[in-house]
Amino acid sequence: MKALVYDAYGPPDVLRFEEVDRPVPRADEVLVQVHAVSVNASDWETLVGSPAYSRIGGLRRPRIRTLGSDIAGRVEAVGPDVTRLKVGDEVFGDNLDRKGGFAEYAIAREKVLAVKPPGLSFEEASAMPQSAVIALQGIRGAVRPGQHVLINGAGGGTGAYAIQLAKLDGAEVTGVDNAAKLDFMRAVGAEHVVDYTRTDFTRAGKRYDLVLDLAGHHSVLAHRRALARRGRYRWVGGSVGTLFQVLIAGPLVGGQRLLVVRPNTTDLLTMASLCTAGTLVTHIDRRFPLDETPAALRHVGEGRALGKVVVTVR
Ligand SMILES: NC(=O)c1ccc[n+]([C@@H]2O[C@H](COP(=O)([O-])OP(=O)(O)OC[C@H]3O[C@@H](n4cnc5c(N)ncnc54)[C@H](OP(=O)(O)O)[C@@H]3O)[C@@H](O)[C@H]2O)c1
Repeated sequence: MKALVYDAYGPPDVLRFEEVDRPVPRADEVLVQVHAVSVNASDWETLVGSPAYSRIGGLRRPRIRTLGSDIAGRVEAVGPDVTRLKVGDEVFGDNLDRKGGFAEYAIAREKVLAVKPPGLSFEEASAMPQSAVIALQGIRGAVRPGQHVLINGAGGGTGAYAIQLAKLDGAEVTGVDNAAKLDFMRAVGAEHVVDYTRTDFTRAGKRYDLVLDLAGHHSVLAHRRALARRGRYRWVGGSVGTLFQVLIAGPLVGGQRLLVVRPNTTDLLTMASLCTAGTLVTHIDRRFPLDETPAALRHVGEGRALGKVVVTVR
């Protein structure tokens, strides 16, 4: 089968296509014929090996040769302990621990896969797993009607879902991203937008009940300036320095914590049903064929994507 592989961290030039053996599922694993796979910031980070946390499991060189976590496709074979899924099922999920989606077939553990609702195309389904679940776990239970929510890095894949969820909960939403994404964030539902290259939201004099930080680079003291009394700050991604500050000092300054997102098929199906009902919209910026996956990664990594980028494999 055709697979996009790499053996050293670096720019997309380190990637190459190889013919490799089709993997065989072990006991609790499923072989998925990949129809579509979306690109996440985490794919880019694990390609270039930065921030440092992206090297967990492979400090000097990547442990997994083929990237691609968010897969949607058809079950081709199952291991002997697989009970829920069968050959032919259409499935989707966040295959973060195995990856391998930038290929014609990928191995995933049964527990990370859900049966794809028939109302979602493979492309839409592949766009959801990581981004939609981060957004749900970041917003759910944290927002009351009329509250002010700021989403930092709101113009990307996760941000587009997070804006919509905060609006559904009745919040007034501010989206922060670069100038090219301001109109997009407004179109998705943000009332206010901030260009982070011109304005530091922590110094703009406004306070928020929730800051969901998808691109956290500020200090815990800066976050405190931006939080209302009893406001909450959730760090999802960004610099390692900020990550450590939030871990160590976050609880001391109040309301600041790291959001560890785990693939969760119940949450994924919750988000999928909101999409099939038309309550949420999946914003797919561009589609690339498998042969152009390096360009798809570059599009996300260089910050040009408005919402999600999908690689169509079949
Ligand atoms: N905590 C967890 O368990 C967990 C699990 C999986 C993923 N993640 C993280 O979740 C994050 C969200 O990923 P995603 O897929 O939504 O990423 P994405 O599509 O790349 O969106 C991130 C957005 O942030 C913007 N941005 C970059 N630097 C910024 C800054 N200083 N201030 C404001 N915005 C900035 C980017 O735009 P430009 O770069 O164009 O400016 C981009 O639009 C990633 O950091 C990923 O590592 C966390």
